[in-house]
Amino acid sequence: MTPELKVLAVDGGAGTGKSTTARNLAFRKNFLHVDTGSHYRSLTKHLLDAGVSASDTDEYLNLNKLELSTEVMDRSARLLVNGISYPSESLRALEINSAVSSFASLPSVRKHLFEYQRSQVEVARKEKLNGIVMEGRDIGTVIFPDAHLKVFLTADTSIREERRQLDGENDQIVQRDSIDSTRKIAPLVPAPGSLIIDTGELSVDAVIEEIEKYL
Ligand code: DC
Repeated sequence: MTPELKVLAVDGGAGTGKSTTARNLAFRKNFLHVDTGSHYRSLTKHLLDAGVSASDTDEYLNLNKLELSTEVMDRSARLLVNGISYPSESLRALEINSAVSSFASLPSVRKHLFEYQRSQVEVARKEKLNGIVMEGRDIGTVIFPDAHLKVFLTADTSIREERRQLDGENDQIVQRDSIDSTRKIAPLVPAPGSLIIDTGELSVDAVIEEIEKYL
């Protein structure tokens, strides 16, 4: 019998520390790290490059023609769109920060990523890892509602903005969070039964320790 893989869902708004937390946990537990924000960013980049805007019709988005695949490096999964993996810097540019929430509100875009994201468990299995830690906005509510552990991170807006500035990023996080939390499909809300952690006053190690207590 194949051993059961642990699934850990980490959700929260922009700048709450999801990536740092998820990456660290993946390293410590030998899990696959999957950043679903980068999936939405990659599709946004692909569509903007193709001259498509979020107000275009589904027919125009032509999502069915997109081939999604995965490459894994150092326990981290990256999405390839038609064989292309976009560099992180291009995915965190102002143009993408400004458009990604609008594209992520489209049911067709979310539907297109749903199966792909769930299939990452099989990637973790093939890589012979112990589990998967997936970060995003709807991992505990929609993608893996049966995750072994669901974590929801929060932090004060001023702290989150400060973190973004330290990263040197131009990002309207309040505006993005507002679109992400109020959209009709898969809004940013804590999944029932989530472990809620305010990362504002905690060190990365303290956040990780808290999560490990429950894993
Ligand atoms: O985690 P991030 O800031 O890189 O995510 C970028 C955007 O992608 C975010 O503003 C909303 C969207 N997103 C989403 O709708 N659902 C997810 N599971 C992850 C991200």
